Amino acid sequence: MTMNKKLIDLIAEGYNFSISDIVSIIENNSEADDNYLFCRADKIRRSVYGNKVYIRGLIEFSNCCKNDCLYCGLRCSNLNPKRYRLTEDEILECCLNGYKLGFKTFVLQSGEDLFFTDNMICSIIKRIKENFSGCAVTLSIGEKSEESYQKYYDAGADRYLLRHETACKNHYSKLHPDKMNFQSRIDCLKSLKKIGFQTGAGFMAGSPFQTSECLAKDLIFLKELNPEMVGIGPFIPQSDTPLGKYPKGSLRLTLVMIALTRLILPHALIPSTTALSTIHPTGRELGLKAGANVVMPNLSPLKYRKHYTLYDNKLSDGEESAQCLKQLEARVKNAGYEIVTHRGDFIA
Ligand code: 5AD
Repeated sequence: MTMNKKLIDLIAEGYNFSISDIVSIIENNSEADDNYLFCRADKIRRSVYGNKVYIRGLIEFSNCCKNDCLYCGLRCSNLNPKRYRLTEDEILECCLNGYKLGFKTFVLQSGEDLFFTDNMICSIIKRIKENFSGCAVTLSIGEKSEESYQKYYDAGADRYLLRHETACKNHYSKLHPDKMNFQSRIDCLKSLKKIGFQTGAGFMAGSPFQTSECLAKDLIFLKELNPEMVGIGPFIPQSDTPLGKYPKGSLRLTLVMIALTRLILPHALIPSTTALSTIHPTGRELGLKAGANVVMPNLSPLKYRKHYTLYDNKLSDGEESAQCLKQLEARVKNAGYEIVTHRGDFIA
């Protein structure tokens, strides 16, 4: 048995790993060790969630953003994307389409768009909960005050996604403008947890200036925060951004980080992300086999999809489209899993 396999076993058993343990796994170049890690992660996910894959309908309701993150195509300095906002009625219509297809979770995602006041967000949440009983609402609308988060929760929102992006302070400052800081991000995540949201953190694999130590810190951070959800996708350059010339994150690194996250947080809801599908034709399946258990097909109106340009060549059609659920089901089945249409809450 190799050193890394032993380490993988120890981490799966709850051992208090160090930064250098994780670095050693990330920097190993043995395919056999990687496969061992993916199998171990898959076994753990099956012991908690069986072969079930949960689906979420993603509604990208505004691509307007006040922030200026250096990696993101929606940054306010980027004048190229055609900015759009869905009306409340359009958002409800997306949910209706999704509901008919079998979706029971709607993820409302946008840039940090101050046009949508707390009252508007709460009204949208209430209308979704009233019209589609038994459905869960997930918000992914960025950093807000604890009071705002509480209002959304009281209005009926169930879950909140806010990737921490990187747990390394220095790295965080290289990816974000000066007025954003790591501590605010962490404070937001702590508020969300405290309020009672099923809370999602996460990061990009292979982002510019990221080291293996940064990734190890991401895992230590996740273990401590203990979020219910973790989103991990490869960094993909967006050509109109300051980081648009950096290379994309690799398939292998993304899969390794998904698998390690599954080892550390056996119960977490982990999506096989659109970014992973974008960099590899079978990325989605490989993500599931490395420990992911959620997929989030796109429910946004077709005419707006091309404008939600987080990164170049972002997929929003084919199996990434909620309308192609049947094809997605077939592919997931082929990989050895089964899409189920219940809410798919976190199992404690
Ligand atoms: N590549 C990959 N992921 C990106 N995101 C933003 N820009 C990029 C990019 N260039 C991710 C961020 C954010 C989520 C909505 O999209 O992690 O939290």
